[in-house]
Amino acid sequence: MANCYGCLKDNIHGFCSSCENKLFDRSKVSNQLEFNWDDIQDRIMGQPEGFSISGVQPKGFIGRDKNNLLAPNRNIESMYIIKPFLDTRRRLYNDSPANEHLTMTMADQLFKISTAKCGLVKFANGEPAYLTRRFDRDKEGNVLGQADFVSVLNATPDTNDHGLYKYNSFTYEDVGNRLNPTDQINFIRILVFNYLTGNGDVHLKNLSLLESPDGDMLLSPSYDLMNTKLHINDPKIAMNLFKEMERTQQKLLTATYDYKIGDFHKLGKRIGVRDRILKTIEEEFRVAKANMLLLVDKSFLSDAGKLKYKEVVEQHHVQLFNT
Ligand SMILES: Nc1ncnc2c1ncn2[C@@H]1O[C@H](COP(=O)(O)OP(=O)(O)O)[C@@H](O)[C@H]1O
Ligand SMILES: [Mg+2]
Ligand SMILES: [Zn+2]
Repeated sequence: MANCYGCLKDNIHGFCSSCENKLFDRSKVSNQLEFNWDDIQDRIMGQPEGFSISGVQPKGFIGRDKNNLLAPNRNIESMYIIKPFLDTRRRLYNDSPANEHLTMTMADQLFKISTAKCGLVKFANGEPAYLTRRFDRDKEGNVLGQADFVSVLNATPDTNDHGLYKYNSFTYEDVGNRLNPTDQINFIRILVFNYLTGNGDVHLKNLSLLESPDGDMLLSPSYDLMNTKLHINDPKIAMNLFKEMERTQQKLLTATYDYKIGDFHKLGKRIGVRDRILKTIEEEFRVAKANMLLLVDKSFLSDAGKLKYKEVVEQHHVQLFNT
C-alpha cells in the first residue's frame, strides 16, 4: 500500500474513492495505464489536432474506455490531458510528474487554492506521467470559454524575442487589475504560494480566465504549478510584481527581484485588496511551512527530489519572511 495517487492520503492502493469521484465520476480506474507514451505519439503523428507541443513539453489527450481504463485519444474534446516527464537533459527529469502532482495537491489541500483536478499515473513501461482532468469542459463535455492572459492583455510577440513576451510584456499588477475583487484576493494567495514553492514559470500563458456557468469570465483553476527549481535554474519569480518594474524594454530575464512578503502586500493594496485580508494571507503562509514540508515527504518524488524541494521551500520562506 502506498499513498493515494490523487490526494496522497496514506494506505491506499491506486486512487482513493474520493479521488475516483473527483477525477473519474465514481468509476474504479487504475493508475497503471496499459499503454505507453509512444502509443499516444504514434497515434497522434498522423492526427496533429490531437497533440500539442508548447516549448519543450509535449502533452497528449486521454479519454475513458468503457471498461474503466484510461485510453489514448486523438479527440481534442477528450476529458484529460497527460504530460510525460520532461526532456531527459533536465535535472531530476523523472521527478517532473510527481513534482507537478505534489505542487497542485499542496495548493489544493493546504491552501484551498482552486486547482485543476489531477493525479499521478504510470505508463505500461513504468514511466510516471501527470494526468489532469480538463476544467474547460462541463459534465456533458461542452466547451467552456477560456482565455489566457496573453490574449486577455493582448500581449504580442516581438520579432526575435523567442517567446519572452509572455514573461516581460506585462506584470502581475496588470493581471491583478483585470480581476474581480474575489479573484484579486485569490490571485495574491496564488502568487505567494508560487513564490514559496519555487515556481519560476507563472507567465501570462499559465494564468487564465474561464467562463462561469453564468457566463462571467473568472480566474480559472490553477494549472501547471510546479517547483521549477528542481529541474532548471530560473529566477525566483517569472514576472515582475509592479508596473514600474516592467521589463518590456529589457529583452532578457536578467533582473531577478528578491521580493519580500511586504511587496506582495503592497501589490494587493494597489489592486484594491483590504489590508486586513492581506495580513491574514501573510500569517497563513508564514505558519504553513511545516505542513508543506510534511506533504513533500508524502509525495512520489525521489529522495533527491524531496530534498531539493524542501531546500527551495526553506530558502524561499526565509527570503519572503525574514527581514
Ligand atoms: N486541467 C486543465 N484543463 C483545461 N486546460 C488545461 C488544463 N491544464 C492545462 N490546460 C491548458 O493547456 C495549456 C498547457 O498546459 P500546461 O500545464 O500549462 O503545460 P505546459 O507545461 O506545456 O505549459 C495551458 O496553458 C492551459 O491552457
Ligand atoms: Mg504552461
Ligand atoms: Zn485520494
